[in-house]
Amino acid sequence: MVEAELALREREILEASLEALAARAGDPTAAVYERLFARYPETEALFVRDRNGAVKGEMLAKVFECALDLAGPNAYAANFIRCEVVNHEGVGVPRELFPRFFEVAVDAFQALMGEAWTPEVDRTWRGLIARMAALAQGA
Ligand code: HEM
Repeated sequence: MVEAELALREREILEASLEALAARAGDPTAAVYERLFARYPETEALFVRDRNGAVKGEMLAKVFECALDLAGPNAYAANFIRCEVVNHEGVGVPRELFPRFFEVAVDAFQALMGEAWTPEVDRTWRGLIARMAALAQGA
């Protein structure tokens, strides 16, 4: 398969998995942050200004957007991630912790999807979050 076809397939898998996630579990935001705070309890206090949950929702939405961008046009995710690593250091998120959010999110999706999380979906998401983590590490 040529590269362009592989990229198209990757994007199709991501889109289909996000639709399936929404259909099965609704909004995954609460499950993602429950997992984040269980794994990295020190992060909960950083969200003190997020009284209505808008920041948490926006952060997760950006992870979806970055994954879809990397699997598609690759227009802005690389720069966005590099900038956010620096912005986050300013609000007290160490640079090595930043990419851990990708893993937390995907682990939460996997748990919500149960049997419907296929090896192909797993490979696609894990591949993308590894690329996002590499971008963050190179920031
Ligand atoms: C464990 C890792 C992370 C922690 C603890 C964290 C924490 C935070 C906190 C505390 C804020 C609010 C800052 C404030 O009060 O102004 C914030 C905002 C934000 N974060 Fe993260 N973050 C993490 C990873 C990420 C990742 C991987 C992305 C996306 C690639 C991201 C995207 C954003 C965005 C876009 C905002 C601004 C949202 C808004 O104000 O509407 N964060 N983050």
